[in-house]
Amino acid sequence: MANRRPVIAGNWKMFKTVNEATDYAVRFIEEVKDVTELDIILCAPFTALYPLKNELEESIVHLGAQNMAWADQGAFTGEISAQMLLDVACTYVILGHSERREMFGETDEEINKKARKALAVGLTPIVCCGENLNVREEGKAVERVQGQVTRALVGLSVEDLSKIIVAYEPIWAIGTGKTASSKDAQEMCASIRATLTGLMGLAAEKVPILYGGSVKADNIAELLTEPDVDGALVGGASLDPISFGKLILNANPLVARVEGI
Ligand code: PGA
Repeated sequence: MANRRPVIAGNWKMFKTVNEATDYAVRFIEEVKDVTELDIILCAPFTALYPLKNELEESIVHLGAQNMAWADQGAFTGEISAQMLLDVACTYVILGHSERREMFGETDEEINKKARKALAVGLTPIVCCGENLNVREEGKAVERVQGQVTRALVGLSVEDLSKIIVAYEPIWAIGTGKTASSKDAQEMCASIRATLTGLMGLAAEKVPILYGGSVKADNIAELLTEPDVDGALVGGASLDPISFGKLILNANPLVARVEGI
């Protein structure tokens, strides 16, 4: 992770009612209260955001959403705007997760519009990319991911690009228990950084690039030893506050050093 500050983001997907979310927050805050070496984000369902705002207010845990609309407001039934996310103290938003691309038909062009909107209001987009198994087996993973990143970020200024986070999540590793090897994760994250360098020059060295796909407490430390892997987007393993807390403690470089991991 070179000299970049690591980021660990939990993606709860469509899990947790308001009560479950607030119970989680109380226990999770206690688990991670001494973490100083990385940024922690919880990306919760829309309905849990407002109650979590109150729970997380005094803590080091940041709040994120899992999607948002590209429009400001208006007749967009079922959509949630960037302004609405700001209103409940969200500071991050996941954009273009593969589940949204695959099941809800989200395109790179829409992700680009959403990224522009998020940046315009001061939200940090976590822009997702990743190839499926066929593409990987055809040897086209780098090409696919570089294309996704380029199209999702086209037209953004260097200043805006400096504010984003990118998450590389191979679809074949999401929720399957199959993690990419840390070498594969490094190769892909490095290729994303090369694409970013093409778009923004040396400033790409500052952009956090996360890996996602079956990250757990026992593989996070190894992933983070790779120079271009700056953190993780964690689905299943973020759903329990104690085990997600442990994952974060294993990722915290200070703690890792003390424990000799
Ligand atoms: P997983 O999900 O950790 O359960 O594989 C990651 C994600 O989809 O963000």
